[in-house]
Amino acid sequence: MSVIPDASDPFARDRGGPAQPLLSVSGLTKHFPVRKAGGKKQVVRAVDGVDFDVLKGETLGIVGESGCGKSTTAKLLMGLIERDSGGLLYDGQAVGERAMPWRSYRRQVQMVFQDSYASLNPRMTVEQSIAFGPKVNGVPGREAVERARGLLARVGLEPKRFAGRYPHEISGGQRQRVNIARSLALEPRLVLLDEAVSALDKSVEAQVLNLLLDLKAEFGLTYIFISHDLNVVRFISDRVMVMYLGRVSEIGPSDTVLDAPAHPYTEALLASMPSLDPDNRTQVALLAGDPPNPIDPPTGCRFHPRCALAEDICSQTEPPLDGIQPLHRVACLARQPGSGHSAAPIPAIAA
Ligand SMILES: Nc1ncnc2c1ncn2[C@@H]1O[C@H](COP(=O)(O)OP(=O)(O)O)[C@@H](O)[C@H]1O
Ligand SMILES: [Mg+2]
Repeated sequence: MSVIPDASDPFARDRGGPAQPLLSVSGLTKHFPVRKAGGKKQVVRAVDGVDFDVLKGETLGIVGESGCGKSTTAKLLMGLIERDSGGLLYDGQAVGERAMPWRSYRRQVQMVFQDSYASLNPRMTVEQSIAFGPKVNGVPGREAVERARGLLARVGLEPKRFAGRYPHEISGGQRQRVNIARSLALEPRLVLLDEAVSALDKSVEAQVLNLLLDLKAEFGLTYIFISHDLNVVRFISDRVMVMYLGRVSEIGPSDTVLDAPAHPYTEALLASMPSLDPDNRTQVALLAGDPPNPIDPPTGCRFHPRCALAEDICSQTEPPLDGIQPLHRVACLARQPGSGHSAAPIPAIAA
């Protein structure tokens, strides 16, 4: 899988050309007000100033421990919750402004959630569920049903057998295929998959992942693929973004980030992951220390209380997300030339 989408690919409905990101996210922020015992008002910094691009035709994986802000990021990108601040540029146009109102944007960006059952109306047949979106958007009834049947076939569910069934009459894997078909019914360009295969058995998960790869190629889709499972993310992603306590700690090509991580947090995540190699199943408890708390995040680098490389400066200075290679960025003072961290690279001397 290449990072740069094939320039010869005819991107239908494309405006800015293959080099222009499909989605540019800048300064995205969402704080949830909460009331602690004693009535004191506080905020959960669920997403706290996040910048990234999603390139046309790529799969961007988002990883990080539970509670680091992955789902909140996805919901903000979908407009399911309102952002406090930050901007979204969709193919070069500001989302929510005249050229790209939320209504048009939402048709081109769809989401699949983890819980296959909760996403479907229990009183609708799977065909009705898939046809619903197109009907609401003005596609004539007959055509919407035909589209639903075509999509059912495309996701591996024979329409004759499955069209008339209700969600409780099919398996979890089949329901997730229905949800995928439904997400494609409005011909989106970007699909957000939030733990979309996480509830499935390993064998079913592999089938659905392969289906997602086929559909992506066939419909020229771009994916944001959120998962806590690094093996799955490695399999499907071109690039990977690592989040920690509402911020991006590292982003880059999958093989760089997952085989030669630059951030100590990514390293710890990888080390605490069960190995796929049965002869090497030891689990190193590198992620010790206090569990992350987004209500009162640590000063400086948010990872410093759990980090093996932490020095005084790490509790004082917030590391910027810096490029260490053109496509690889990391927020760690130990990797930033001239940061004052003892392990930092020597800054290049200007000639
Ligand atoms: N509606 C909400 N109200 C209050 N806190 C929330 C809400 N939604 C999410 N959070 C908190 O925001 C943080 C990030 O959550 P989430 O985005 O779901 O993380 P992830 O998907 O990475 O597990 C968590 O601490 C979570 O408890
Ligand atoms: Mg989540």
